Amino acid sequence: MNFRYFALLAFLPQLALAGPPLVPGQALFQKNCARCHGANGKKGANGAHDLTKSNLNAFGRTYLVTNGMGKMPAFGKVLTPEQVQQVVAYSLTLK
Ligand code: HEC
Repeated sequence: MNFRYFALLAFLPQLALAGPPLVPGQALFQKNCARCHGANGKKGANGAHDLTKSNLNAFGRTYLVTNGMGKMPAFGKVLTPEQVQQVVAYSLTLK
């Protein structure tokens, strides 16, 4: 088996899992953030802030998600930096 073929095989399951185009951060958000912020960012459980009204930019959100603040847990040990970036990008799309 040449390497190209192997690489293709290794990549296929990921394509199948990804399914129809889905923002990568969306699944991460549902799993890690929705219990407080709600699927639409507006839930505000446990004192969470309404993400649709947040003025924080990507830089500020990345810092906050990584390090936590008050009752907001730190995700720096749960999510990879890439996943933090994806979930932050998704949170910025919530309107
Ligand atoms: C246990 C509940 C909880 C979970 C889970 C949670 N948050 Fe929060 N979040 C909070 C709370 C509480 C605050 C307010 C923190 C403060 O200012 O003291 C907050 C604030 C924020 C803010 C700042 C909003 C602003 O402008 O004031 C952002 C952005 C945010 N959360 C994103 C996320 C993301 C992304 C996730 C998932 C990776 C997440 N949160 C998971 C509770 C939570």
